[in-house]
Amino acid sequence: MDSFAGKLAVVTGGGSGMGRELVIQLAAQGCSVAACDWHADAVEQAAAMARAGAAPDVRVTAHACDVSDEAQVLRFRDELLEGHGREHVDLVFSNAGIGGGGSFVTGSREEWERTFAVDWQGVYYCARAFLPLLIAGGDGILVHTSSVNGFWAALGPGMPNTAYATAKFAIKGFSEALIEDLRTNAPGVRVAVVMPGHVGTDIVANSLRARGLPELEAMTDVQLADLIPPDARAKMIDTAVRATPEAAYDYAELFSGLAAAAAETPER
Ligand SMILES: NC(=O)c1ccc[n+]([C@@H]2O[C@H](COP(=O)([O-])OP(=O)(O)OC[C@H]3O[C@@H](n4cnc5c(N)ncnc54)[C@H](O)[C@@H]3O)[C@@H](O)[C@H]2O)c1
Repeated sequence: MDSFAGKLAVVTGGGSGMGRELVIQLAAQGCSVAACDWHADAVEQAAAMARAGAAPDVRVTAHACDVSDEAQVLRFRDELLEGHGREHVDLVFSNAGIGGGGSFVTGSREEWERTFAVDWQGVYYCARAFLPLLIAGGDGILVHTSSVNGFWAALGPGMPNTAYATAKFAIKGFSEALIEDLRTNAPGVRVAVVMPGHVGTDIVANSLRARGLPELEAMTDVQLADLIPPDARAKMIDTAVRATPEAAYDYAELFSGLAAAAAETPER
């Protein structure tokens, strides 16, 4: 694909972070975009920002959709085809995701399944809904967002990340398996998998919100300790992932510290 001009892209989780940036940058390059998010206001705002930086013939639509609910994904698909007056799409970015479900042993089953449903079922339902529309276009691209946690199945010492890592490994495996399937059965269409390391988005705040938890600043000591158990915090300090005890509660710093530690220990 030499140019995005005149194409139609689908972006899930378009209301924040990397998804919002995709919506804005695609529109700026002449690509029409249908973006969804379960936060309708956030995706409306992202669409407005994208329209402000795009040529008048670029159409950017915003849709409320929870990608873990197949009926909503199908409604999103129908809405966007009608809204854009198209019968196929050219690019699909399955980007929506949340963190959570850290411990399979001690965590709540509900949170585990919710995280897995958003991160894995969301990608699966979107592939079911949109792959036929990419094939109909002839030369489309399906882009799945996995994570460094699709390579490395923990957040750090004493910090299991089971639901998220299981989903992100599944996304990587599904994408790799699709390569041969597409080569064999739909050779014009390609699949790509993105494995980001730490990116400074609002994913922690958005994931807490998705789990019905307050913002970090409003959390009690008990809620904070639940997010990073004291013994895990102590191990991070011991292993110098965290420089000071206070820094173990600085989440932005925590995640960049963990990403750096991960990069330094490739054998894990
Ligand atoms: N930020 C990182 O460091 C990082 C690293 C590796 C992978 N990732 C992955 O990148 C993707 C984008 O993350 P981000 O950092 O931009 O996060 P973000 O929280 O800034 O953006 C994600 C968006 O997805 C939306 N979303 C969440 N669940 C949804 C659902 N069920 N249906 C529809 N929309 C939903 C959120 O409301 C949010 O607007 C995610 O899949 C994430 O797992 C992020």
